[in-house]
Formats: sequence, structure tokens, C-alpha cells
Amino acid sequence: MKNMKILVIMGSPRKGNTFRACEELRECMQEYVSAEFEYLWLKDAGLSPCRGCLACFASGEDKCPNHDDGPEIARKMDEADGVIFATPVYGMNVSGQMKVFIDRFCYNFHRPRFFGKSALILVTTGFMGQKDVLKYLGDVAWLWGFEIAGKAGLVTMDPLPKGRKEENRKAIAKAAGNFSFALGRETPKKPGLKDIIIFHGERASFSRLEKISPEDYRYWKEKGWLDRTTKYFTKAPVNPLYHGIGTVAEFFAARQVEKELTPKGDS
Ligand SMILES: Cc1cc2nc3c(=O)[nH]c(=O)nc-3n(C[C@H](O)[C@H](O)[C@H](O)COP(=O)(O)O)c2cc1C
Repeated sequence: MKNMKILVIMGSPRKGNTFRACEELRECMQEYVSAEFEYLWLKDAGLSPCRGCLACFASGEDKCPNHDDGPEIARKMDEADGVIFATPVYGMNVSGQMKVFIDRFCYNFHRPRFFGKSALILVTTGFMGQKDVLKYLGDVAWLWGFEIAGKAGLVTMDPLPKGRKEENRKAIAKAAGNFSFALGRETPKKPGLKDIIIFHGERASFSRLEKISPEDYRYWKEKGWLDRTTKYFTKAPVNPLYHGIGTVAEFFAARQVEKELTPKGDS
């Protein structure tokens, strides 16, 4: 059995509830796959906050003025078989460490690249906010190209409400099973309607951004995604009905983009 390399992007600043939940998940996964966990502690990662210069979007991530561990973290994500995004809920959102990480990797929203890679989202909370944070972090990883294979939201308040310990255990066991299944699958999952719509919606923008965002345009062109015969980011088969809906969505999105790009007074 292949040994799976799992990278845990750890947003908690301490070896507390979130770390313990990841370890429980690791143990559960051993039932299905051979998985080796590497923890990337964002608190120690040497990742400075985004400076807002937009250079990564327009000219490429290698033009980022922050010379730090960013490229090394990107390399680790590329090399992993699967990635776990783990964070505690802080102030109804991800931790600050996790937000700095997301901001620094925002260029992946424009130039998604993690197709064929599975992700698991793990969130711990005192007692509220986990649903919103699971959704947010799941959307981030999905828009970067990951398949969201599992999600677990855990409540950690002490003492735990009745039945909550069992719910936490079940959430971890379910996520471990789903994540392991996705890791072991030979062929990538077929894109759903949401995947197809996002592809067409983004193409409506990036095909028109040659001047405004040349690096994004270059990436989309180089990938062949601007070719009208291309139906999705990957070569996975696309449901013809989804393709039809995506094409219509792209037509309307393109009209909107054209309108926004037209200098005021020209229309
Ligand atoms: C600064 C801070 C903000 C927090 N904000 C929330 C919150 O908005 N909602 C909530 O239910 N719990 C909140 N908590 C509780 C943590 O989400 C919870 O204890 C979590 O399991 C901590 O994980 P850790 O042990 O890995 O740090 C907060 C904790 C801290 C330290």
C-alpha cells in the first residue's frame, strides 16, 4: 500500500484542541490507508503578512516582495498527496495565522493548481462559529483546485454538552473515512455543476484580462483553459447538461465583465 504524504496546515498557535483532533483523525485514518502526517505550524512558518501590492496577481508569485517561507510552503503543498487545513475558530473566523496564510496564497484563486489533490477541513470551536468557518475554509481550498473530501467541525468547551463528545468522535471518523477514500481513488472525481459554473465564470473574466492582469491571462492561456473547446480545468468528463448551463452562465458573465471593463462614458 502506498504511503500517503499528508500535510497539515496548522492554524492553531498551540498544541491544543486542534492538534489533538488532527492526531485523532490520523489514528482513524490508519484503518484505511498508510498516512504519514507532516505538521506545518503556521505560527513558526516565517510567513509575513501580505503587503497588498498585487504583484502576485499581475506579475506572478515570484515577484512577491516578501522573501520568506512562502515558496517552500507552496512546494510542500504541491508534493503532498493530501492537505488538511486545520484551524480553531477565533472571533467567529479562522485564526490570524491561517488568515495570513490564505492572503499570501490568494493568487491561487486566480490561478488554481491543486486539481487531483484531496483536502480535509478541520475546525475546532468553543461552542459556535464552526459551520461558517468550515464553509469559508472549504470554499478557499475548493477555489484553489482541491477536492474537498471531508470536513469536521468539533466543539471543545469544557465541560462538553451531553452527547457532544460522541458527535465529535463521529465527525472525525466520518471525515477520516471520506478523506482516506478520496486519497485511495485512482481517477479524480467528476466535476459537479458548481465546479463547471466556476470554470466558465472565471474564464469570462480571465480571458479579458490580458492587459490588467497579464500573469493570470498567461497562466490561463498556457493551461489551454481559454481554448473554446476546453470544458473544464482538467480532462475529467463533463456532464453535457452542466456544460450547457456553464456556457450560458459564461455568456452572461462575459457581458457583465465587458460592461465593467468599458471606460465610463464609452457606453
Ligand atoms: C482569541 C480566541 C478567540 C476565540 N473565538 C471563539 C469564537 O468566536 N467562538 C467560539 O465558539 N470559540 C472561540 N474560541 C475558542 C476556541 O475556538 C476553542 O477553544 C478552540 O478549540 C481552540 O483550539 P486550540 O486549542 O487548538 O487553540 C476562541 C479562543 C481564542 C483563544
